[in-house]
Amino acid sequence: MVKVITYGTFDLFHEGHYNILKRAKELGDYLIVGVTSEEYDQARGKLSVVDSLITRIDNVKKTGFADEIIVEESQGQKFRDIKKYGIDIFTVGSDWTGSFDYLNDYCKVIYLDRTKDISSTMLRVKKTQIQRIGIIGTGRIANRFVPEAALVSGVNTRCVYNPHKESAEKFADKWGIDAYGDIEDFFAASDIVYVASPHETHYSYIKQSLEHGKHVLCEKPMCFSGTQARELFEYARQKKLILFEGIKTAYCPGFAKLLGIACSGVIGNIRGVDACFTKLESADKRELTDKVYGGSFTELGSYCLLPIIKLFGREYEELRFESIKAANGIDLYTKAHVRYGNGLATATCGLGVKSEGKLLISGTAGYISADAPWWKTSYFEVHHENPDEIERFSERFLGDGLRYEICDMLSMINGDTTRDFKLTRGDSETMAEIMEQFLAGRNRQ
Ligand code: CTP
Repeated sequence: MVKVITYGTFDLFHEGHYNILKRAKELGDYLIVGVTSEEYDQARGKLSVVDSLITRIDNVKKTGFADEIIVEESQGQKFRDIKKYGIDIFTVGSDWTGSFDYLNDYCKVIYLDRTKDISSTMLRVKKTQIQRIGIIGTGRIANRFVPEAALVSGVNTRCVYNPHKESAEKFADKWGIDAYGDIEDFFAASDIVYVASPHETHYSYIKQSLEHGKHVLCEKPMCFSGTQARELFEYARQKKLILFEGIKTAYCPGFAKLLGIACSGVIGNIRGVDACFTKLESADKRELTDKVYGGSFTELGSYCLLPIIKLFGREYEELRFESIKAANGIDLYTKAHVRYGNGLATATCGLGVKSEGKLLISGTAGYISADAPWWKTSYFEVHHENPDEIERFSERFLGDGLRYEICDMLSMINGDTTRDFKLTRGDSETMAEIMEQFLAGRNRQ
């Protein structure tokens, strides 16, 4: 019996997929088809897949050519599958010619002609209208955003707005987009507004964008008042628009894996979350000169509050802050203590004090530890009472990581309701409430 194996994502199943499966089956007697898992596609940067794994497997099954369907979960699996299933022929389409020659040592490799003029990528573009992104703000984060957005199919960064037209023009020249100094013209040229302006302007820009019928992706912290956050989310809901807070950690695959493992019971019941993020900033930077909204907690608190709120929820019993301040009243180092019925949490942020940036999740049967930069989670460990018993987990974090949130936001705009659990409206509202309490306390002193 000649055993054949082939692999693919098989997203938006099309004629090219049908043809390759048919011809693969004709090469032998028994055909195994490997379908990529969602996590694997994410990890290798294929972020635009539309159909779920179940749908994709179902479509392969319906052709009747596959004798067996397996899930491809990681790099290096092909070699293992060839050995495990006693494969005689490995085949894929001619777009991969040469890529799998190394498998020739273990079985025969055949590249079949690809069906012309059809691909999942083409269908995705046809299916979804390309969303035009307009950016408000021209600072560091906006510069990081443009190349990340370029990696997500279905969006196109078109323009930038800055009330100082020259800044907008400089930014636009650099990235080959249009510059606007007039906000009405800017709104007319955008479908999604990315708000990357100074913190205190977020509320007003979000509101205006929603009024103009635009979806909004806003940098963290979205706003500094629970009431304002609730108002904006409610307004977006009424207008059937997506309002999305960009805390990149929430959307990266490694952090999702960490939360999943933390909640799986492997460290027992969670009783402690300690998150620390420090970054030494020079004294002349906005973060340390803006007396109203600058400081370590407003700058970095969103990252540290994220694991606390995701793991302990929104209903805390007590919230207390301690800060070391600069002469201008801005906090250089802040610890937020959050007490829950069943657990204790701290969020430690520093712009003028350096510490070990760590995320520690303590449970009744062990702990999870992730070192800096845990906010771009790519590695973490699970420890138990026996110090030799350590489980290690890793996950890819690509580039600056903004691609993950852009991709999830786009899916939500296109009607996928399964992604908003990563950072819910309630999570963002709670963060805004905590920021509000922090600022009220700081400004009172
Ligand atoms: N394939 C093919 N002819 C096409 C498209 C795909 O023969 N027109 C083959 C690929 O070479 C691969 C298999 O179908 O062996 C699964 O490919 P997949 O990557 O899932 O499909 P694409 O349409 O190429 O997807 P994408 O555009 O997302 O890369």
